[in-house]
Amino acid sequence: MKYYITTPIFYPNSSPHIGTAYTTVAADALARYHRLLGDKVHFLTGTDENAQKIVRTAEEHGTDPKIYVDGVVERFKELWAALDISNDDFIRTTEERHQKVVQQIFTKLYEQGDIYKSEYAGWYCTPCETFWLENKLIEGKCPNGDCCRDVELLKEESYFFRLSKYQDTLLQYIAEHPDFIQPSSRRNEMLRFIEGGLEDLCVSRTTFQWGIKVPFDPKHVVYVWLDALINYISALGYPDGENYQRYWPADVHIMGKDIVRFHAVIWPIILLALDIPLPKVIYGHGWYLTKEGGKISKSRGNVQDSFELIQRYGSDAIRYFLLREMQVGSDGTYSEDNVVERLNSDLANDFGNFVSRSLAMVVKYREGIIPRPGQDGKLEQELKELSQEIKNSVEKRLGVFDLASALEEIWRFVARCNKYVDETAPWSLAKHEDQRERLDTVLYTFMECIRIMAILTAPFMPGLPSRICRLLGLDEGLIRWEETDQWGILEPGTRVEKGEPLFPRIDISQYLNVGETKRVDEDQTMDQNINQTQVQTETNEFTLSPEPTPTPEFEPIKEEISIDEFAKLDLRVAKVLSAERVAKTDKLMKLEVEVAGVVRTVVSGIAKHYAPEDLVNKYVVLVANLKPTKLRGITSQGMILAASQGEVLEVLIVNKDLPGGARVK
Ligand code: MSP
Repeated sequence: MKYYITTPIFYPNSSPHIGTAYTTVAADALARYHRLLGDKVHFLTGTDENAQKIVRTAEEHGTDPKIYVDGVVERFKELWAALDISNDDFIRTTEERHQKVVQQIFTKLYEQGDIYKSEYAGWYCTPCETFWLENKLIEGKCPNGDCCRDVELLKEESYFFRLSKYQDTLLQYIAEHPDFIQPSSRRNEMLRFIEGGLEDLCVSRTTFQWGIKVPFDPKHVVYVWLDALINYISALGYPDGENYQRYWPADVHIMGKDIVRFHAVIWPIILLALDIPLPKVIYGHGWYLTKEGGKISKSRGNVQDSFELIQRYGSDAIRYFLLREMQVGSDGTYSEDNVVERLNSDLANDFGNFVSRSLAMVVKYREGIIPRPGQDGKLEQELKELSQEIKNSVEKRLGVFDLASALEEIWRFVARCNKYVDETAPWSLAKHEDQRERLDTVLYTFMECIRIMAILTAPFMPGLPSRICRLLGLDEGLIRWEETDQWGILEPGTRVEKGEPLFPRIDISQYLNVGETKRVDEDQTMDQNINQTQVQTETNEFTLSPEPTPTPEFEPIKEEISIDEFAKLDLRVAKVLSAERVAKTDKLMKLEVEVAGVVRTVVSGIAKHYAPEDLVNKYVVLVANLKPTKLRGITSQGMILAASQGEVLEVLIVNKDLPGGARVK
């Protein structure tokens, strides 16, 4: 069976982030699953480079668009490599192989009357690269709820694509192919949208030159969405390339919910007009949002370096997190502490622990040699039945692109295996010579469970099979999907290795905002806030020194710490939005500060040294991962840094143009 799967092509106007990575990781897991099934897979991703916003961004960077995108495209490729993405092709829409197909299709549609010349008068949203009619705008802004940005008035000669002509054919197609748009919530949205009436679409622009020229009228460039959608066939060598013959129609186009509309309307209509079969499935997943429910975006300053994350936790763990947290039909929440939580509970505790425990027992009780099993008991029978049930349900769920619940099912098997260890209690069996054969059976079953887990998780965490095979002394070629519910594959007599833990537990306080800082009482925190030096110098006597310029008595330097310990501190620039004195104390000031797009309240012991208005609009340094504490009934979410000696105290102010949220290191 052939299996052609695509991701959207990404705008290389900025580097990819962990949210954008989701689509590609999801497509990769499906591609790997189909390869394991033995399908002939073609997996395509790439970049959408002819957008107007690319020109804008390149201008902002004072560089040429092509030079600019060349740099960003490399970042995409590096990220996909770091995440073990196994794409078979990477298409860039600035490549000739793509441009010539777009020009050919544009000409054909024009010649057959599906594209015609007229004048466009209306609005354009550059961030969304979308045309809007006046009556669709909301308070004069882009009506896309995720955007709401300013739109620009356009009045220019343009070519139009007759979407309206195909409206009924498309509706009928969707009605006859209930699986065409998935999940069903997106299908219903699309049906409502199309039933609302399709307007002909403006498909060329004349006010800038970046993009693919209309071949018979080169002052026009092709509208970026028409150009971009064609990548799915231009990359295959449409119309007569071998790959096109072999792989089209696509088995699935995976994408985020925001762009289903383009794929469910413009793309099928292009294909209908060209008399080309439609893709089998268009699948729209939700978005990864921040804990606060906001978008992950560079302009909001909440984009974490994906490479740093992968280096910290490993590609398998990041992939697991992304795939496990995004439930069908809804959005997922991304935060680094959630990643660590998942890693510690599902990967280190459940999965990793089973693997290390059972390998350790084979090493301890059988000198590391897989024993020959005896007769199965009831528990082994149950495990075998469960493996069949899990294989079927994982296949069913992956068949409808439900990766999160496929993982949930796999973890049902992992949990059962852990329970099997407790039920069989090999440590007790080992004490009785007459239980030797029973212990052999149990230990053999453990090893088979590990092998099965390696197959089940291989599409999601591609780094695991080779690591597990090494531990089990198994040839990696024996990781075959059809053997997920086959038992007795491992050769008794094979030597296993205990190895390193697959997923070491992460100390959450090492990197995060939820540090396991010791609880401190109110006064102590307040004193820390105003810096201990000052508390001490209230009783110091340096002013009594006979020296004309006395050397102040400094607090002794504290004991050495390692760079890792220092790295636990998350210091950030924070903008003071407002400040007021706390009632009934002359020491405390309450500040509202903005850090990484979030407003926090901080109570600080600086009121004797500053008037509130002195600090407003200043950029201070915040210890951002200090456990919140209550001071005079107010929850203080962090501490601001100040230098002090004697009576003097000065809050550290950052004077360069750095936004609230910038790291201090
Ligand atoms: N260039 C168009 C697609 C053209 S396809 C013919 C585009 N590019 S994009 O770079 O803006 O988005 C690419 C994909 O990333 C989309 O599927 C989008 O939904 C997805 N995501 C962007 N941010 C995301 C999250 N925070 N979470 C999950 N997916 C997100 O649109």
